[in-house]
Amino acid sequence: MEDRTITPSISLPSSSSLPAPEEDKSVLQIWGGSSLQGQVKISGAKNSALVLMAGALLCPDDCRLHNVPSLMDVARMGEILLSLGVKLERHGDTLEINASHIGQSKAPYELVSQLRASFFIIGPMLARLGVARVPLPGGCAIGARPVDLHVQGLRALGADVHIEHGTVHAYVRNGKRLKGAKIYLDCPSVGATETLMMAATLAEGETVIDNAAQEPEVIDLANFCRAMGARIRGAGTNTIVISGVPSLHTTEYTLIPDRIEAGTFLVAGAITHSELSLYPVIPDHLTAVIAKLQAIGAQVITEAPSRLRIVPGRYHTATDIETLPYPGFPTDMQAQFMALLTLSEGDSVITETVFENRLRHVAELNRMGADIRVKGNHAIVRGVPKLSGAPVVATDLRASAALVLAALAADGMTTIQGLHHLDRGYDNLELKLKQVGARVNRIIDNPDAASDASTPTLSPSTLH
Ligand code: UD1
Repeated sequence: MEDRTITPSISLPSSSSLPAPEEDKSVLQIWGGSSLQGQVKISGAKNSALVLMAGALLCPDDCRLHNVPSLMDVARMGEILLSLGVKLERHGDTLEINASHIGQSKAPYELVSQLRASFFIIGPMLARLGVARVPLPGGCAIGARPVDLHVQGLRALGADVHIEHGTVHAYVRNGKRLKGAKIYLDCPSVGATETLMMAATLAEGETVIDNAAQEPEVIDLANFCRAMGARIRGAGTNTIVISGVPSLHTTEYTLIPDRIEAGTFLVAGAITHSELSLYPVIPDHLTAVIAKLQAIGAQVITEAPSRLRIVPGRYHTATDIETLPYPGFPTDMQAQFMALLTLSEGDSVITETVFENRLRHVAELNRMGADIRVKGNHAIVRGVPKLSGAPVVATDLRASAALVLAALAADGMTTIQGLHHLDRGYDNLELKLKQVGARVNRIIDNPDAASDASTPTLSPSTLH
């Protein structure tokens, strides 16, 4: 793959070249009904990439990250690091980060407001510089998503934190190092666990984070920090202990595969009644998703330690799902599983407990013929024999994946608008789907997108 340097003008993919959401006129056309076949290469984990890029701010030396996915969110995080004066270069899926000089303690609002995960830089910046000013990331489509746990934890570590004019200002009291503390998180927030773990790596003394998030990406961050010389134990359990060290050093690190991308392709196999083989994956990261696929009558076979095959059932039956922090069923797979359950026989109840506004895809799935009712944070999905292609609009990242999955199984053509959501978090999704036989086509800047996305502009025969 060609070498790429991430700079504000030539990042790849470049978030600055992305149309503003309201100007995004591209549509995805998908002709459903094809059966899929073959193998899919799973990219590195988005949520690891974003937080490890923030974690590289802890190191006054070169850090090299391998298996970094090519995504808009990664490009945006890259632009934020660049705006702080950090040097970044991308060579294929390797990202070289040099944060020896951080010339800015304030992150720009225009960039932070586009990417919630960029708020997580507050922890490493504070630990490195003794000062950090990061705009509040604001709400987003799936819920209010406050940062109170990040702020309380930083205060416990000895920082003065106040919020003024929409920006969180944090300073280290009495000198330059944070002080280890015992922190209890009211809920096991992934972002707060990561922010505080990064801040504590350079603090004086020991920090204990209780009720910590146990997600695999938290473990990935801990392993990356350990590779730089941090002393962290317990990541992956609900108690993480960090013994602060004065400084970290250069390292190379390979990100884990994306369990949500893998889960999405497992559902793609099930919903199209196709066998697909996925690699590399860490099957243990997908335990809850695999259990639910088995509950509806599909099989997931471990072909090799890092390879899974989905073998769909002839018919799938209903099952209930409740999203929970890891190792529970991931909220990031809820929408995709809902698409699958629309075509499974019987009634399923899906309960979203992590984010308060994460059922907006229901209306779009119903436009395709699904029978779903929402009551509070529950969705009651009554299985239907078939879906039919329709013009639909993606409302958030995982909702867009759910619509792609529904479209792959539907009769006729579906056109999906709002692709800026999809592009945030899936690395080459269309190419990967085409490689296993899906009929997918993107029309860039479709003039009809805003008014009538159902008008076909290409015939299925022109697709491959
Ligand atoms: C991360 C993931 C996201 C995933 C989510 C839950 C990244 C970049 N994103 O998001 O894909 O869906 O975990 O698995 O890793 N909360 C508070 N106060 C806080 C922080 C969080 O009340 O200070 C609440 C949130 O509003 C939410 C819940 O805690 O209801 C879980 O959020 P959290 O785990 O923090 O999610 P993120 O880290 O934002």
